[in-house]
Amino acid sequence: MSRHEAKFIKEIIKDVLNKLEPKYLYVPEHLVGMDRLARNIYDFLSTATDDVCIVGIHGMPGIGKTTIAKVVLNQLCYRFEGSCFLSNINETSKQFNGLVPLQKQLLRDILKQDVANFDCVDRGKVMIKDRLRRKRVLVVADDLAHLDQLNALMGDRSWFGPRSRVIITTRYSSLLGEADQTFQIKELEPDEALQLFSWHAFKDTKPAEDYIELSKKAVDYCGGLPLALKVIGALLYRENKDRWESEIDNLSRIPNQDIQGKLLERSLNVFREKQSS
Ligand SMILES: Nc1ncnc2c1ncn2[C@@H]1O[C@H](COP(=O)(O)OP(=O)(O)OP(=O)(O)O)[C@@H](O)[C@H]1O
Ligand SMILES: [Mg+2]
Repeated sequence: MSRHEAKFIKEIIKDVLNKLEPKYLYVPEHLVGMDRLARNIYDFLSTATDDVCIVGIHGMPGIGKTTIAKVVLNQLCYRFEGSCFLSNINETSKQFNGLVPLQKQLLRDILKQDVANFDCVDRGKVMIKDRLRRKRVLVVADDLAHLDQLNALMGDRSWFGPRSRVIITTRYSSLLGEADQTFQIKELEPDEALQLFSWHAFKDTKPAEDYIELSKKAVDYCGGLPLALKVIGALLYRENKDRWESEIDNLSRIPNQDIQGKLLERSLNVFREKQSS
């Protein structure tokens, strides 16, 4: 085989591997109300326009922003030259020089090859701008908490090629000034909330007959917050009625105005306890 042929074959293999690389992101089974939640965002991003288009998803912690962004990315990614899900930006960027790994991930995921090493955000910005400006990309910037974080990844729309799409998720709607459209994620509808709770408390779509009233009470306290429904449901899985009653009693002691924040705290504590046990 000539050197030219060998190089040609290598190129083909690289191309095939790129195509086989998984683009899709894992999302939990038993998502509820997701068609309803993702549809508007999907429709907005599917609208044909040559411009780069940015949408913002905002809402309280645990309401489902990241999950919705993953679902939309899975639905749309096959239409783009490259896609990238930059998760937990706020957490990652707290580490020393933490924006650099995110910049590298963005370049690597889109270009599907290793990129030149750099260790400074400003160099990363130049690389992104130079290398991605002709690429039609779908990028999710998940959990943004400062504009600096966005600027390091996408200082300007012109950094990405025409018809690119960007999804930002954040707890802070004030960061979404650049977005063409914003979507506030609200609590689940009561029937959806009961269904999600039941998946975790009973591994079924609805509560067991003799737990219906207790389940409705628990769900009421969770106020349509997916994280709380999941964690409180899992906490009560296979527990007896006494345990249910005492947990519901605990929930009922949380003052109304604090319910979401306290539930979240409670959910996270339970989650940590379970992880460490
Ligand atoms: N519609 C849904 N159906 C089932 N589970 C859901 C749904 N939405 C969210 N969840 C679950 O609830 C939990 C919290 O969701 P998610 O992480 O998307 O929230 P978030 O809004 O991104 O929170 P944060 O602001 O903390 O990043 C996750 O475990 C997720 O799987
Ligand atoms: Mg999130």
